[in-house]
Amino acid sequence: MWLEKQPLTEVLISKKELAQKVEQLGDQITRYYRGKELFLVIILKGSLVFAADLMRCLDLPVTIDFMSISSYGNGSISSGDIKIVKDLAADIGGKDVLIVEDIIDSGNTLAKLQSILQKRHPNSLKICTLLDKPSRRQVDMQVDFCGFTIEDKFVVGYGLDFAEQYRHLPFIGVLNG
Ligand code: PRP
Repeated sequence: MWLEKQPLTEVLISKKELAQKVEQLGDQITRYYRGKELFLVIILKGSLVFAADLMRCLDLPVTIDFMSISSYGNGSISSGDIKIVKDLAADIGGKDVLIVEDIIDSGNTLAKLQSILQKRHPNSLKICTLLDKPSRRQVDMQVDFCGFTIEDKFVVGYGLDFAEQYRHLPFIGVLNG
């Protein structure tokens, strides 16, 4: 079996725990935006799996669009000097926008992205992340909706990668080393 040969040391968050948490987040977001229409900005590639599950737990009118961002960092910490590889096709002016991320680490990527999107004058701009690693934070950041706060471990699966591998795993695992 391919999976058994991979250097994963533990399952940090199981498929079942992910499903339960995503449902809770969906309820929380639904309550918060009740009576409004929600626009999800899905940040590729990591948040693809999370966003696909989360949107199906929202009892609201929802539209979506995607952004792809590359970060110029050296080493494992992003610098916040980001480049938009693929921008939104839609205009977010006047909309209630929720950025969907898989993980917040240093916070540099999101801080920069927030400032870019804020200049487009949405009615509101909030953040939802599946995972948060506050111990790695370099910039202050208000996370509005968060699934799990985790320790500083290298996690893969459920959208998160190492060298583009492991995104398809249905759980969050810890990579050895
Ligand atoms: C990850 C994640 C965030 C960013 C967080 O993306 O999706 O965008 O890093 O790091 P930061 O808080 O230190 O800025 P990544 O660059 O790995 O791209 P990917 O989603 O395509 O895997």
